[in-house]
Amino acid sequence: MVAKTKGATGPRAPRGSGHDSGPGRPLTPRAAGAGSRTRRPLAAALPPPGTGMRPSGGTRRIGPSGARQNGPMPPRLVAPDARYRASFLAAIQEFVTGEESDSGQAVAGQELERWGANWASPAVFASYVDGLNAERYEETPRVEGWVPCTHLWFVDGDEFLGRLSIRHRFTPFLLEYGGHIGYSVRPTARRRGHATAMLRGALPVARELGLDQVLVTCDAANVASRKVIEAVDGRFEDRRGEKLRYWVSTGS
Ligand SMILES: CC(C)(COP(=O)(O)OP(=O)(O)OC[C@H]1O[C@@H](n2cnc3c(N)ncnc32)[C@H](O)[C@@H]1OP(=O)(O)O)[C@@H](O)C(=O)NCCC(=O)NCCS
Repeated sequence: MVAKTKGATGPRAPRGSGHDSGPGRPLTPRAAGAGSRTRRPLAAALPPPGTGMRPSGGTRRIGPSGARQNGPMPPRLVAPDARYRASFLAAIQEFVTGEESDSGQAVAGQELERWGANWASPAVFASYVDGLNAERYEETPRVEGWVPCTHLWFVDGDEFLGRLSIRHRFTPFLLEYGGHIGYSVRPTARRRGHATAMLRGALPVARELGLDQVLVTCDAANVASRKVIEAVDGRFEDRRGEKLRYWVSTGS
């Protein structure tokens, strides 16, 4: 499947540099600050219990008062994990058979080109997941021009709902168009508030990475994404080509 870049204006996005969360991101010379910590356990950077986002599954959660609460866990952000393979693969199929204008389709198509034939193998899928998780480390070898990137999946039980990527620093392209964070929700799980919850839940993770504010961009025509960004109090800066650029505080 050939990746689609339909509708893009301005400088053409490098392969894999779209908005949603495919593996790897384009790079540029290193900016100071973010991304310099290495080998920090991702679980430590995820939001604390009780925020609706947790690094691992379970049927108990911690309420605002600190008391244990029974009941199912709400959907949560987790590090990519091979336990979600079946649901993830189903989601990829949804992306590639969905709307051509859906930027989630382009990334899914690129991944299928690279991995699809072998993803049915649990071992291959596990190595794909390991590769995603390794991308957050500074020392991980990467294509020249790509930057460290923390990938997160949004899951409900064993169901994969969506994914989000935090680019640890800018490249010229990311500063102009791509932003720090990209995300996508599988087509059958949309319009339930998941993207908004994902982006909100990712802000403390970005803060842990040293980012006081993050640039989040969307195509002017992408009403859903614009609403997601505005729901987390994105501050509109400007429009560059088709991209609307917003800054979002990661909190104090
Ligand atoms: C953009 C995307 C992530 C939104 O995911 P989602 O889980 O449906 O978003 P939410 O449910 O949090 O909805 C956020 C808002 O957008 C609205 N919305 C969602 N889909 C919409 C659509 N197709 N048209 C108009 N509004 C839409 C929702 O009603 C909600 O608005 P509200 O707060 O006023 O009720 C999803 O459509 C997607 O994955 N698209 C493809 C990849 C992509 O575009 N990524 C973002 C790149 S910037």
